[in-house]
Amino acid sequence: MSTTHNGASFPATRLRRNRANSWTRRLVAENRLSVDDLIWPIFVMEGSGQTTDIAAMPGVQRVSVDRLAAHVQTAVRLGIPAIALFPATPNDLKNGEGTESQNPDNLICQAARLLKAEFPDLGLLGDVALDPYTDHGHDGVIRYGYVDNDETLELLCAQALNQARAGIDIISPSDMMDGRIGALRTALDAEGFIHTSLMSYAAKYASAFYGPFRDAVGSAGALKGGDKKTYQMDPANSEEALREVSMDLAEGADSIMVKPGMPYLDIVRRVKEAFAVPVFAYQVSGEYSMIMASVERGWMDHDRAMMESLLGFKRAGCSGILTYFAPKAAKLLT
Ligand code: PBG
Repeated sequence: MSTTHNGASFPATRLRRNRANSWTRRLVAENRLSVDDLIWPIFVMEGSGQTTDIAAMPGVQRVSVDRLAAHVQTAVRLGIPAIALFPATPNDLKNGEGTESQNPDNLICQAARLLKAEFPDLGLLGDVALDPYTDHGHDGVIRYGYVDNDETLELLCAQALNQARAGIDIISPSDMMDGRIGALRTALDAEGFIHTSLMSYAAKYASAFYGPFRDAVGSAGALKGGDKKTYQMDPANSEEALREVSMDLAEGADSIMVKPGMPYLDIVRRVKEAFAVPVFAYQVSGEYSMIMASVERGWMDHDRAMMESLLGFKRAGCSGILTYFAPKAAKLLT
């Protein structure tokens, strides 16, 4: 790109001219949000006929598998390309090793089979990490008080294969173990899943903004005030994000995710500029909650805050955004 102002100066140049009318603003708009940019995260729960609210995420619900098709139907008709599935696993199915993650009849597999049959053109993302299934709430297995990297890799591979067999299209590891992209690619290919894609949560930070999500999947209580700082990234760092991304790409990641979103748009931009690959951001639960809490108090306008926050991701360089606003934004966009 050339210089930003080409020696332009006032009064010959008045930048407000291009802003004067809706039609001029539309003509010069540099970025646009479309329904094609949206991935909708969804919480699946046990039982039948169940829909429960998540206190800290107004407008977001957990739904039982039998209600899933009805739950996503409108969004799918509006053209949302993909959804991401997260399980609210009952406590009695959790243990230290997160073995429920490998059950071919677990909530994610049931949901994937049903949705694939119902909506063959809808992309399905499966989050890979053990935290929805462990009684300690960590993303991996604990050995001598430490989340063991290499033993966890084997379990993540088993979890991913279980999801791929059920019809998940994009495996999205969110665990931040070292070497998981390479291990997952090898495991998937060995079973013939060469078309199953890997969207790596490559730059995932140890963040307070995941609080409402942990309530939604029921891992907050389990984690008991603990944190994930020995595997998720330090919010102080951005060079390290580039190292994470470059290793994941070398190991076979098809696309990259930055998470959380709004506080980390600088990371999106740096990754986009350093690597010519699709970059996604996750506008996480706490970001959604912040906006919704403000809206509920009458402090911000819902639709404008939502659309401005989503457009910011496009401006930063995102190919797409995982967002709990997806169905509401899709409605406004179409
Ligand atoms: C699990 C996972 C988390 C989120 C997505 N996958 C939580 C965590 O790492 O503790 C957070 C999503 C959100 O906050 O919306 N590894």
